[in-house]
Amino acid sequence: MKKLLYIPVNTKPEHLSTSKTVSREFVNRFLAKNPTFELMEIDICNEYVPELNYKYYNGRAELVSSDEYAKLNTEEQQAVARIKELSNQFVSADAYVIAAPMWSSFFPARLITYIDCVIQKDKVLKINEDKVEGLLDDKKRTAVYIQSSGGVFPKLLSGQINHGTTYIEDIFKFIGIKDFHKLMVEGTGKDNIGVEGAEKKAFEDMDKIIDKMSE
Ligand SMILES: Cc1cc2nc3c(=O)[nH]c(=O)nc-3n(C[C@H](O)[C@H](O)[C@H](O)COP(=O)(O)O)c2cc1C
Repeated sequence: MKKLLYIPVNTKPEHLSTSKTVSREFVNRFLAKNPTFELMEIDICNEYVPELNYKYYNGRAELVSSDEYAKLNTEEQQAVARIKELSNQFVSADAYVIAAPMWSSFFPARLITYIDCVIQKDKVLKINEDKVEGLLDDKKRTAVYIQSSGGVFPKLLSGQINHGTTYIEDIFKFIGIKDFHKLMVEGTGKDNIGVEGAEKKAFEDMDKIIDKMSE
């Protein structure tokens, strides 16, 4: 079976979170349309995602092994094992749903910690002296980034304000996942939209994206 990896980025329980509410509906509709997919879910704000430490690395995106690994204490060895596990899970997926709130024009820091964990040499990146290449164009992969925000941001200003969205698109394309989509859940903090209005619009917008990801 193919795998959908769902990555919510939020400490809130689902019923209190706009991004989690919308993304759960997205995942359910995606799976209904794509019955050959099974769901993998990693709640990165509530599950173990190690903070990176220089001791875990030999070089860029390369985890220690053998002698260097043996020098680590038990907790550090567990962190290295977990980083490998997170990276393997990420690589095994065919479709990705990442859902986060906008925080300070970006996303919560936990997501960058997770990305630093999963981007590993010879799994996700090929690192040569003269060039670095993404390896995740090895099969058909597709991704959507779902972002909730208090404000509403015109697409034209995206590069200046919507830094989380721009970054996620750039890094996914860089590692080889070129089929990338965005679902904005905007205006949760605005009187004339609010959580209900923002969610309603997102529920209307999502089928078009699911269709594209299912092609
Ligand atoms: C720490 C923090 C920072 C935020 N920064 C922004 C921001 O820069 N721009 C914005 O429009 N909304 C910002 N918001 C509002 C959230 O993006 C908004 O409430 C969103 O709908 C929350 O989604 P959630 O319910 O999934 O957490 C911020 C909220 C918090 C708690």
